Amino acid sequence: MKMTFKIILIGGLIVFFAVVTVVVFTPAMIWKPAQTVVGERRNVDQERGRVLFYSNGCNYCHTQYVRDVDNGMGATSDGGDYVFDNPMILGSERTGPDLSHIGRKRSMQWEVDHMRAPREYSPMSIMPSFGFLGDKDMRTISEYLFHLGDRTAAERMVSSPAPYATTTAPKMAQAIPSNDPSAPPQGWPTFIDSTLYDGKLIYTARCLTCHGCAGNGLGHYAGTLIVTPANFKEEPFRDMPDDQWFWHVSEGIQGSVMPPWRESLNVAQRWAVIRYVQEVYAHPFERDPNEGDVPKAYDKKNPLPATLDNIQAGKETWTRECLPCHGDAATGEGPYRRNIIPLPPSFTDKNHYDPFTDGDYFWRISEGVPWTAMPTWKVQYTEMQRWQLVVYIRTMFTQTTKRPADPPKSERFNYPAIYKTLHLPKAATYEAGKKQFLVLCSHCHGLTGAGDGAAGSYLNPKPADLRKLKTGIKTGEGSDNYEGSLLSRMTFGIRNSAMPSWGEFLPEHERWTDVRFVKESFVDGKPTPASVMGDGRVPAPYVRTDPGIFQSEIGTISPDAGKPLYDQYCAACHGSDGQGAGPGTKTLASGAPAALPKDMSNAYIFSRIRAGAPDTMMYGFDPLLQEIDIWNLTAYIRQLTGGVWGG
Ligand code: HEC
Ligand code: HEC
Ligand code: HEC
Ligand code: HEC
Ligand code: HEC
Repeated sequence: MKMTFKIILIGGLIVFFAVVTVVVFTPAMIWKPAQTVVGERRNVDQERGRVLFYSNGCNYCHTQYVRDVDNGMGATSDGGDYVFDNPMILGSERTGPDLSHIGRKRSMQWEVDHMRAPREYSPMSIMPSFGFLGDKDMRTISEYLFHLGDRTAAERMVSSPAPYATTTAPKMAQAIPSNDPSAPPQGWPTFIDSTLYDGKLIYTARCLTCHGCAGNGLGHYAGTLIVTPANFKEEPFRDMPDDQWFWHVSEGIQGSVMPPWRESLNVAQRWAVIRYVQEVYAHPFERDPNEGDVPKAYDKKNPLPATLDNIQAGKETWTRECLPCHGDAATGEGPYRRNIIPLPPSFTDKNHYDPFTDGDYFWRISEGVPWTAMPTWKVQYTEMQRWQLVVYIRTMFTQTTKRPADPPKSERFNYPAIYKTLHLPKAATYEAGKKQFLVLCSHCHGLTGAGDGAAGSYLNPKPADLRKLKTGIKTGEGSDNYEGSLLSRMTFGIRNSAMPSWGEFLPEHERWTDVRFVKESFVDGKPTPASVMGDGRVPAPYVRTDPGIFQSEIGTISPDAGKPLYDQYCAACHGSDGQGAGPGTKTLASGAPAALPKDMSNAYIFSRIRAGAPDTMMYGFDPLLQEIDIWNLTAYIRQLTGGVWGG
């Protein structure tokens, strides 16, 4: 046959359609996999959620298939999982986790909140915020997410399988004493006999990095995990039956990094650590630690002198490990102290600490304190590092060791050269820095940066007056790029002072937000946008705010109770009578507030105190003040500005 163009064309088309029929249409027609338990028909809402899921591009980052090699992501996918999917949205790339089995793993509310603000749940997440979709659509998407995966797995997640179902906790050699005052002595001997000491050692060595020193799931490693470690202070752990504790700790949790501990801990060790977690974190109560005297092995003099380097090394460990409970100023008010019983002590108590020897500190840091959450640091830190902690605590906090002379300025700010080249990234926002400053810095540096925060008052040297940075930081002190220079001070702390080395605690992008806040509030100033000031409009979440409902539920709101709070938290900026430009604002680069307007509504005042005024120095006091305090302040402001409370 002659190969004319026509024949080539027709032949080509025949081959093309034959191939298409074989690889596209035939499989689709003969593909009839048996439906699995995962593949289930969707109701109307779930179907709508699915459409929203792919029309918003969730599938660009999230896959929905688990291969044999995908260890720990759940059961491998089967054709029958997809029988109701048309088109199938397997997804292309795993930028985020695979979602095949996400259903029922989280509550629907969690899904909605996470979609609205992913970084609230997973600080480093690059998942975009989908708040713009509105509650209804986000809820619909979560209906779809809730439907994904094996619906019987939820049940398996909560009730232990054989052989764990019948496990009961072994009887302890020594019963754990109650908080009954007539109970037998509760010091070290009882603590050790009850195996809680073994549990503490295991917890500090194996669990602390994930579940955190305070058992709240905020260990160092947790920040980078997609499925965050359990917070033992929350349900269901507080009341979880023993067999489930034992099962989870032995087998680990599928789909998360929680390891199967039966691989490395024997049965007695697993029970010891479970007991420890239950007694100290899940349902703690006050017991008399009755520590006794320092044992011989620890009763030594500190071999390390109080040098600048030892102080700095001690500070770094302190910021990383101790600050979460004991606080940055060692007043016992660390960010993780919630629900710790007993609370960490305040190192400012002179009477208590004057008689303390080096051995007193060294012993407690090494072995922990019985019945309390104070870990046994000897399993994580060398003897030298523990002595450096003693140096740091004694020079900076209990001030029972003489502080060395300050280094010359050139050495004080002698940080790695890289910092001289760094500049504030755009992503570091003023608002994020403001929130952080209120929570992490204001108790030392004061609300107006004047260095007059209550926790800083006993420190030596006192926290810096940040408003002086205006002249200080730009003149000499090591760098003409003071953004980078500020970051280096944040990162390493200030030598020979209690200013923490935040690099041990906060990731770089959070340190930058602090730099932005400090720079714009205290050094360069920030033009205040006219639009947010005194416009009287109540932000959306507060429109329905009504003191009446609150008052009937919790207590009586009164302007008199608001006054002392006003003097403590507000007068420095707003003046003693709300006239504006209070004493703390004199050299504030960001400008002082004007007189408080006369005709503000309750809801407006409440919203400003709780959430702050965006782009101004006005903090959202939510993290520091309870709702009743905010109402009392609202009542007081109402009175100050000439209104009548209750009217
Ligand atoms: C730019 C990529 C990206 C897009 C688009 C995206 N995500 Fe994510 N998603 C992530 C990353 C990264 C994580 C892991 C960190 C986290 O939990 O936020 C994540 C986590 C999740 C989780 C938690 C999974 C778990 O195991 O805890 C859910 C649920 C989720 N995304 C749903 C969605 C939905 C629904 C959409 C669409 C509305 C979406 N994502 C769009 C990247 C993305
Ligand atoms: C590598 C990090 C990591 C370490 C180390 C770790 N865990 Fe976990 N753990 C997790 C994660 C993540 C979860 C949450 C799993 C989930 O809820 O899906 C968890 C959950 C748990 C739970 C709750 C199980 C449940 O019912 O959901 C218990 C109990 C627990 N861990 C105990 C321990 C103990 C005891 C140790 C030390 C011996 C330990 N963990 C060490 C990461 C860890
Ligand atoms: C989980 C919270 C927590 C962490 C983390 C923690 N502590 Fe403690 N610490 C406590 C508690 C609780 C006490 C005991 C309070 C009591 O005896 O009533 C305590 C007691 C102490 C004591 C003894 C004080 C006294 O008056 O007897 C010292 C010293 C101490 N801690 C130092 C440290 C150091 C150093 C670190 C970091 C390496 C650290 N702590 C980390 C909670 C913690
Ligand atoms: C425990 C109290 C304490 C806390 C909390 C604290 N600081 Fe400091 N800060 C100090 C002390 C003390 C100094 C050093 C004063 C001196 O050397 O004279 C200082 C110095 C500084 C300096 C350097 C000033 C200079 O002269 O260069 C900056 C900037 C600073 N702090 C910012 C912050 C920020 C931002 C936070 C919150 C993330 C914070 N500090 C939290 C106590 C504290
Ligand atoms: C660091 C200084 C600072 C502190 C502390 C502070 N504010 Fe403000 N406040 C401001 C600034 C700045 C504004 C913006 C309005 C302006 O610039 O006039 C503002 C605005 C307000 C407004 C809205 C006024 C308007 O014109 O819209 C109220 C109400 C208010 N603050 C109450 C309080 C209360 C109550 C406290 C104490 C709990 C407090 N503020 C603490 C600086 C501060």
